[in-house]
Amino acid sequence: MSYLVTGACGCIGSWVIQQLLEAGETVVAFDLTKNTRRMEQIMSPDQLGAIQFVEGDITDEARLSALIEDRDITRIIHLAALQVPACKANPDLGRRVNVGGTCSVFEAARRHRGHVAAIAFASSGAVFGPKEMYQPLYGQDPVVPNDAPQWPQTVYGETKKQNEIDAIGFSESDGIPRLGLRPWTVYGPGRDFGLTSGPTKAMKAAVVGRPYCVGFGRVTDMQYVGDIARAFIQLARQDRFRGAKSYNIQADWVEVPEILRIIEELVPSARGTLSYKDVELQIVAKLDDAELRQEIPGIVKTPLREGIRQTIDLFHALHRDGRLDQSDLNE
Ligand SMILES: NC(=O)c1ccc[n+]([C@@H]2O[C@H](COP(=O)([O-])OP(=O)(O)OC[C@H]3O[C@@H](n4cnc5c(N)ncnc54)[C@H](O)[C@@H]3O)[C@@H](O)[C@H]2O)c1
Repeated sequence: MSYLVTGACGCIGSWVIQQLLEAGETVVAFDLTKNTRRMEQIMSPDQLGAIQFVEGDITDEARLSALIEDRDITRIIHLAALQVPACKANPDLGRRVNVGGTCSVFEAARRHRGHVAAIAFASSGAVFGPKEMYQPLYGQDPVVPNDAPQWPQTVYGETKKQNEIDAIGFSESDGIPRLGLRPWTVYGPGRDFGLTSGPTKAMKAAVVGRPYCVGFGRVTDMQYVGDIARAFIQLARQDRFRGAKSYNIQADWVEVPEILRIIEELVPSARGTLSYKDVELQIVAKLDDAELRQEIPGIVKTPLREGIRQTIDLFHALHRDGRLDQSDLNE
């Protein structure tokens, strides 16, 4: 009995695998190429050695189907996707990978119904539109419930909305639970790419003594990557559902200047070197996760200051060892 993790070499995938290995699970890591740079930051050499890597494209349904059979896959955590900038640069590829790839995973599981017990998959807060669209429904400072209307403003958000719809369709057909999670600004070691990677890059810049400007401002929801990884694992362990459902997840609603203030407090030498653009992202920031907390027990929330401190501590340690990749600060 093994877990299949797609998008395994990405930020969240690396943490999911680290936690699965800690829990003694067998893991098959699927990604386009075997790139262990993020895993190396958070795993021991023994853990790295225990991972079964498989290189492949998520749109290759036959490959995934064979993998489920050959490696005795019973649970799937599907994270492979192109993020906002990549979908913006190449919308056609974005749709093929995010929608087509997710359907490949769902179909491969369908072929092995009775064997695959559950699938957790990554949706996104980007299924929702900007704050202004929700004000008529939920007031001036809207807090958006789980079943709020979805008005994505990007191709990326549209693909994630489609994933949620496809999950319902496939689960009606085969009865396998398909549970989606809608993260917002995930931060922590390994978050080196994507629209909302700015806060983590600011933490890294502070540690290495470089100035950094976060590309957005106003309120965001800061979610520690270890907690998000744990939530995906918890979803993949639910087999009592007989349908599909996607969940808001909520951690700390905070203004970007407050994030920078905490970083500067923890790294005093960074005072005055961090800045932000006063641009509001076109996704409502406050998602209510009451349904997630009620239906999936044990969702963990690391307090913001503690999550930032843990990230900065790891960056300091890696920097001292000469192992802190700074290439993302140039993007
Ligand atoms: N990081 C966030 O803040 C955030 C927020 C909301 C949702 N999500 C979603 O969570 C998931 C994981 O996010 P992440 O931050 O780890 O992303 P990431 O970009 O770090 O990792 C994605 C991984 O998917 C792989 N991939 C891309 N195309 C592929 C293909 N055709 N076949 C196989 N693998 C492919 C990439 O190589 C990469 O390793 C994604 O689905 C993302 O959309 C992330």
